Amino acid sequence: MNILVTGGAGFIGSHTLIELYKAGHTAVVVDNLSNSNPESLNRVERISGVKTPFYKVDIRDRKGLDNVLDQYTFDACIHFAGLKSVGESVSKPTEYYDNNINGTLVLLQALEAHGCRNLIFSSSATVYGNPAFIPITEECPKGVCTNPYGWTKSMLEQILTDMQKANPMWNIVLLRYFNPIGAHPSGLIGENPNGIPNNLMPYVTQVAIGRRPELGVFGNDYDTPDGTGVRDYIHVCDLASGHVAALKAIQAKCGLGLYNLGTGQGYSVLDIVKAFERVNGVPVPYSIKPRRAGDIATCYSDPSKAFRELGWKAQFGIDEMCRDSWNWQKNNPNGFE
Ligand code: NAD
Ligand code: UFG
Repeated sequence: MNILVTGGAGFIGSHTLIELYKAGHTAVVVDNLSNSNPESLNRVERISGVKTPFYKVDIRDRKGLDNVLDQYTFDACIHFAGLKSVGESVSKPTEYYDNNINGTLVLLQALEAHGCRNLIFSSSATVYGNPAFIPITEECPKGVCTNPYGWTKSMLEQILTDMQKANPMWNIVLLRYFNPIGAHPSGLIGENPNGIPNNLMPYVTQVAIGRRPELGVFGNDYDTPDGTGVRDYIHVCDLASGHVAALKAIQAKCGLGLYNLGTGQGYSVLDIVKAFERVNGVPVPYSIKPRRAGDIATCYSDPSKAFRELGWKAQFGIDEMCRDSWNWQKNNPNGFE
């Protein structure tokens, strides 16, 4: 299939390109580079041997999108483009609603006008809010999000669901990612956060390489085995292959599909710190800090629906996730610069 990949220069998008090429698909990327570096696409070429056509386009720019859509025939769109910083979304809500919601609406209209009615959307476990039950299946009701970023995902799921219902010609797969970490085993591409990392693994790798003195562990009084927050970390290459599996559902004219992409295994913050130190032989000094506002104690998936229906299952464990995150950081201490 020929795939339009929005946000393809970013962390998950660049890893997904590799999996698409491995599966024999072709791709074109649009990205406004607001949170990425085009060097990621050169690295994708080094890994895969495939040069990705790239257009610096903001998905809110209808003319820019039409220009790309006029040049190619796309079988589907994988839509990663979006702003994703939880904290920033609290201070800049209108920017987040405009970029993520307005951007997606413009993209949908452009795709519809060009007859491309197949879409995979990057959603998030954040839509479950404080989950009603654990492990979280897709039947778990959506919850109250604690920040505008989460609401953009929740609202976009609703918008896409309504749109597919109104026009069943559309095939849409909503993928709810749990916590993607790791990097391509080559060490050539990985997560490249701007400024102080918000997420656990990039913070851990920056402490390990000496860029930051210690990790702050946000709370050790949660109702979890060691008191620290438990999450379902998933290797980004596994997450990437989940998109290739979801394309099969699109090809089978799935209508509306909804899947968790996680491993089903929960690890605490301290489990991650210890695994990282053991696998990589580097110390990660930490101290216990107060809880972070909006955090929940435990969040992990039941990913069995994706296995049953898409034949997809995560292959990598926590050791590979820690090894590959470190390999990327060590080889690229300043990201793509
Ligand atoms: P990322 O920031 O690395 O990639 C997103 C890409 O989209 C970036 O390259 C950015 O430049 C681009 N972009 C943003 N706004 C755009 C716009 N208006 N027009 C064109 N391009 C635009 O993030 P990622 O981690 O690769 O996440 C990809 C998607 O997955 C996002 O939608 C994110 O919300 C979602 N997601 C991520 C996580 C996570 O923890 N990484 C978890 C759940 C869901
Ligand atoms: N944590 C720390 N110290 C840090 C960073 C994080 O102790 O410096 C803890 C958090 O308190 C939490 C765990 O590590 O218990 C994971 O935190 P992350 O920030 O890495 O991830 P979250 O689960 O909070 O959220 C992430 C994304 C969301 C997404 C969600 C589910 O930031 O956007 O995963 O996909 F919705």
